[in-house]
Amino acid sequence: KKTKDQLIIDAGQKHFGATVCKSCGMIYTASNPEDEMQHVQHHHRFLEGIKYVGWKKERVVAEFWDGKIVLVLPHDPSFAIKKVEDVQELVDNELGFQQVVPKCPNKIKTFLFISDEKRVVGCLIAEPIKQAFRVLSEPAGPGSPTSTECSRAWQCSDVPEPAVCGISRIWVFRLKRRKRIARRLVDTLRNCFMFGCFLSTDEIAFSDPTPDGKLFATKYCNT
Ligand code: ACO
Ligand code: ZN
Repeated sequence: KKTKDQLIIDAGQKHFGATVCKSCGMIYTASNPEDEMQHVQHHHRFLEGIKYVGWKKERVVAEFWDGKIVLVLPHDPSFAIKKVEDVQELVDNELGFQQVVPKCPNKIKTFLFISDEKRVVGCLIAEPIKQAFRVLSEPAGPGSPTSTECSRAWQCSDVPEPAVCGISRIWVFRLKRRKRIARRLVDTLRNCFMFGCFLSTDEIAFSDPTPDGKLFATKYCNT
C-alpha cells in the first residue's frame, strides 16, 4: 500500500488518472502503458479519418462562422465516397453499431460538418423512408421490462405514421458537442432533402436512437 502511494506521488498529478486528449477526445489513463498504446493507435486513426482536405466541386450546402456543411451523394467521385466511408466507420465504431447495408444506397444523402480546422466534426446520414414508429416518452409503467432492462429499448408505438426522411446516423465529435452542430445538420437536411420544400419535424425520423440521440431529438423536435 505504502509503495503504491509513493509511486503515485512520484508520477505526478498530471500523469495520473483519466486524461482527455485535446485532439482526438479519447479518455484514457496516461499512467497505464496499455491504455497509452490504445490511445496512440486511436489518435492516429481518428485524426486521419476526420482530416478533410476538400475537393474541387464540393457541394457546400450551408456556411457558418465556424464551419460549413458539405453534402455527398452516392455518385460523387470516389475520394468523396471514401471520406464518407472512413467517417462512418469511426462513427459506427463509437456507437457500437453494426455495419448496416442501406436498402437504397442510391438515395443516401450524407452531410458533413467541416470545421475551420479542416476536420469533419459532424456527420448526418439520411435516407428516404415511408413510415416510422413514434418513440413514446413514458415507459410503459413500473416493472415493465423496458423501464428496468436495456436503456436503448425505448417504447415505440405500434402504429406506423407516414414519414419522409430517416436519419440513420447523427454524430458530432466529442469535443465539439453542444455547439449546435447537430441542430444545424438537421436544419440543413430538412432544407435539402427534397428539392423545393422544407421538411417539418413530423416528416423526419431518427432510427434506433441512443440516449444522446434521444435527448437531442426530443429537444430539437420541440423547438
Ligand atoms: N444531453 C442533454 N441534452 C442534449 C444533449 C445531451 N447529451 N445533446 C443535445 N442536447 C439538446 C440540448 O438541449 C441542446 O441545446 P443546448 O446545448 O442549447 O442546451 C440541443 O439538444 C441541441 O444540441 P446540439 O448542440 O445541436 O447537439 P450536438 O451538436 O451536441 O450533437 C449528438 C448531439 C449528435 C447526439 C451528439 O451528442 C453525439 O454525437 N453523440 C454521440 C453519438 C450519438 O449518440 N448519436 C445519436 C445516435 S442515434 C442516430 O444516429 C439515429
Ligand atoms: Zn489523442
